Amino acid sequence: MACIILSNLLPLVCLFYFSIYSTAAKPDGCGIRANTQTRIVGGEVSYPGKWPWMAALYRSNTNQYCAGALISDRHVLTAAHCVSGVHPSKLHIRLGEFDIPGRLPTSSTQPNKSSSGTLLDENSNGNNLYSVEKIIVHQQYEPRSHLHDIAIVRLGQAVLFSPVIQRICLPPPSLPSLEDRTAIVAGWGTTAFLGTSSPSLREVEVPIWNNQACLQAIGKNVFNTTLCAGGRIKSADACQGDSGGPLMMPMVDDRWAAIGVVSWGIRCGEPTKPGLYTRTSHYTDWILSTVQRTA
Ligand code: ARG
Repeated sequence: MACIILSNLLPLVCLFYFSIYSTAAKPDGCGIRANTQTRIVGGEVSYPGKWPWMAALYRSNTNQYCAGALISDRHVLTAAHCVSGVHPSKLHIRLGEFDIPGRLPTSSTQPNKSSSGTLLDENSNGNNLYSVEKIIVHQQYEPRSHLHDIAIVRLGQAVLFSPVIQRICLPPPSLPSLEDRTAIVAGWGTTAFLGTSSPSLREVEVPIWNNQACLQAIGKNVFNTTLCAGGRIKSADACQGDSGGPLMMPMVDDRWAAIGVVSWGIRCGEPTKPGLYTRTSHYTDWILSTVQRTA
């Protein structure tokens, strides 16, 4: 049973769902950051453990190319365009990281030693690197229009939660449009269109747009399953390499929920063109049933 209250937003949204929306502030509850000291355009460098659900996706022997968010001890939420057509054996996921090496470690790299010196999950095969057992792309994903750009990756081993590895909450399916509120997007993607990517996790605040205004700005392929967000005055956006990562908003008790998945954009960081995200609340039931089915 779970109950989510969206602070300042809805009086109360109570949901009786699978425990992925857990209520008690257990150390392994979703959306909680243990570490709260005080390819993203605009924004700033984050710090280790601030976004403990962030996942970095690698294909064999390539640089980090997409991101994701840990949503259970075995599942990572990402974009369909990141993993569609990729064989699970070719996909690798890094959790609990902040400064990421661009490429996968070679066999000479010491196991169980994180690049950022953070705590390690002994269940991973060293370097907080996880293999992938299964990739579930949304059945109706349409690459050309980016419709239903959402996927779930099942890891080869269960994750041990730690201060730097936590899962993020999912939004309730009844979440309102959130227009004019601000969310945060984080990633290791490029800091400008055609620019270089960031070895350290970056984050930026992005205002959420009205979908109609977004459609006018973008021209097409803005659906009710799309969420648009981006700086209107100051450049603030996701960019290449941030795809699949979560758009995050704090809900009740400062628990963070993944309200969007970085999907696409027209170049990056142009104040007249917001970034486009898959609107997670539209898929909450699909995500929960997929996680349950493949638990
Ligand atoms: N498709 C890009 C990727 O694969 C993400 C682009 C997001 N772009 C933006 N301007 N918000 O990394």
